[in-house]
Amino acid sequence: MLNVGVIGCGGMGKDHIKRLTNKIQGANVVAVSDVFEEGAKEAAALAGGAKVYTDGKDLINDPDVEAVFIVSPGFAHTDSLLQAIEAGKRVFCEKPLATTAEDCKKIVDAESASGKHLIQLGFMRRYDKGYVQVKEALQSGEYGEPLILHCTHRNPEVGTNYNTPMAVHDTAIHEIDTLHWLVDDEYESAQVIMPKVTKYSHSELKDPQIMLLRTKKGICIDVEVFVNCKFGYDINCEVVCEDGAIKMAEPSYPSIRKNASVSTTIDTDCFVRFEDAYDTEVQNWVDCAEEGIINGPTAWDGYLAAVTADALVKAQESGQIEPIVTAEKPEFYK
Ligand code: NAI
Repeated sequence: MLNVGVIGCGGMGKDHIKRLTNKIQGANVVAVSDVFEEGAKEAAALAGGAKVYTDGKDLINDPDVEAVFIVSPGFAHTDSLLQAIEAGKRVFCEKPLATTAEDCKKIVDAESASGKHLIQLGFMRRYDKGYVQVKEALQSGEYGEPLILHCTHRNPEVGTNYNTPMAVHDTAIHEIDTLHWLVDDEYESAQVIMPKVTKYSHSELKDPQIMLLRTKKGICIDVEVFVNCKFGYDINCEVVCEDGAIKMAEPSYPSIRKNASVSTTIDTDCFVRFEDAYDTEVQNWVDCAEEGIINGPTAWDGYLAAVTADALVKAQESGQIEPIVTAEKPEFYK
């Protein structure tokens, strides 16, 4: 049994505590921490009475805690990650790794200096059945080399505090990680095209946006990010290859005939659309603990995502093609 401590008991933290307690095999939540003590107490009850801390560092250094789940807001991840590396504890950290590329690099350097692979990052789409099927088809070699990816990331709506850069940092960040993993490549440049703005947006948000990424092998990717599309949480991905085109399967719902029309369901949020992926990523992290390995997204992937996101935000402002320049990949992550 892996004894886990969870830092951050907001929406996602509670979701992970319920998952670890009720669904995942081989893990126990033994401690929780939140700067808001009442929230931590509520979360502890969900785990059937875990210890409560208000300082994440105390949780990390608790000898009963074997592994740490970091689900605090992104700005608080760096401190907890560095403390967990120092304590030599296995970590699952929700995305983002950190809020700046500089902090991500600090974390990457600290983990590689420790000599132990400790951090898995919560980019759950790599565990989604649809994406896994596309990756397997690509790896089969039957369709030749991938050339173009057409993707959409549509949300029904967002709050009024959501602004233009958040379309990168909070939305496209999932495509940024998943797509380079899918085609086993790294990014070279970024550009953002701004179409006419929907009447459902506001002055601080350009919506929709078309984000373009080019990989080092020359694959061109377009991602339509449309966060006030009104009709649903609609994630699509099609890979055009030399010998065929592979379109990711949509979630399966019945098709209903009524009033002279045929309809089917589109999900409305990521927690339903990727429910199985969240479960699979966490089960996999727990299963790999015995062997002491990380086989999901690493701190290096978190660093790549941060550098790519910065280039996309720059491209939103400049309208130009912006280069994506990363440090040399350390041997440790190869
Ligand atoms: P939230 O705002 O609902 O909860 C954050 C919690 O952390 C709050 O209870 C707050 O009191 C607490 N907190 C703040 N500073 C802290 C600190 N220094 N130490 C401990 N606790 C602290 O946020 P939410 O939605 O739960 O997001 C948490 C993380 O999960 C973020 O990194 C977010 O990006 C990620 N997330 C990932 C998703 C995914 O699809 N993989 C989906 C939703 C969130």
